[in-house]
Amino acid sequence: SASIMVSPAIALAFLPFLLTLVIRYRYYFVLFYRAVLVRFIQDCLSGLSREERAFQYVLTHVTPGDPDSILEAFDHWCRKVEYISNIGPKKGRLLDRLILENAPLIVLELGTHCGYGAVRIARSLPLGARLYTVEMDERNAAVAEKVIRLAGFDDDTVELIIGPSDQVIPKLREDFGIERLDFVFMDHWKRCYLPDLQLLEGSGLLGAGSVILADNVIFPGAPHFLRYVKRSGLYEYRIHRATLEYIPGIRDGMAELTYIGGGTQREK
Ligand SMILES: C[S@@+](CC[C@H](N)C(=O)[O-])C[C@H]1O[C@@H](n2cnc3c(N)ncnc32)[C@H](O)[C@@H]1O
Repeated sequence: SASIMVSPAIALAFLPFLLTLVIRYRYYFVLFYRAVLVRFIQDCLSGLSREERAFQYVLTHVTPGDPDSILEAFDHWCRKVEYISNIGPKKGRLLDRLILENAPLIVLELGTHCGYGAVRIARSLPLGARLYTVEMDERNAAVAEKVIRLAGFDDDTVELIIGPSDQVIPKLREDFGIERLDFVFMDHWKRCYLPDLQLLEGSGLLGAGSVILADNVIFPGAPHFLRYVKRSGLYEYRIHRATLEYIPGIRDGMAELTYIGGGTQREK
């Protein structure tokens, strides 16, 4: 019948379109496979969380007290075994450079996950500096605490705060005696970037020259955050182009903001 004649023809017509889609988005399929499917299967098989599996590997492949070996073990596991969205080695090098250049004394990280970024920041801090890192997921925080201590950082250098950022930021001054944040690394849920930036502004913890580095502003992306940063006139900013951690085929970027404060606000 006619319909049987037409269907293969239609299917054929769509074939180039489908192929283009698959080729165009192949890295996103890889990401989906590694971050969702493999994770789901391993969760069922191991009874552990992905973060706990990563920690098992790290624990048996590093030298305690050697932060470099911990970062290398994570990078290897995330490239070869499963996927975790640590900042990774490439964007990590930019983070290293900004920490070294700015030599901040008080640093805040939003989103600790397994502690990879925290270890990365802590190893480049000047003497006497302190990192506060905030994680709301208790299971992730338990892994991060072990990773940070395994790297050799005590809680005078790295303090892990468990709780959601919107509850922690307003308490930083009173509960933790912080008067100014020299450097903020934002790497938690992208929809929290803008409200948390505004909380930081409102708390008076940003001073002239405070640097805020926000990861993943291209993928998954934080458009409202970027629009606000551009319009507010409170920041000098630049976007560092990069690729997604452990998947070089996906474009991403980090936003580097320098707080210049309300005094020099531009006319809009
Ligand atoms: C991309 S991971 C952080 C990776 C880490 N910065 C690194 O480079 O190793 C995001 C983490 O942020 C946490 N998170 C998300 N929203 C948060 C919030 N509002 N407050 C605190 N933690 C949050 C998640 O539980 C997750 O562990």
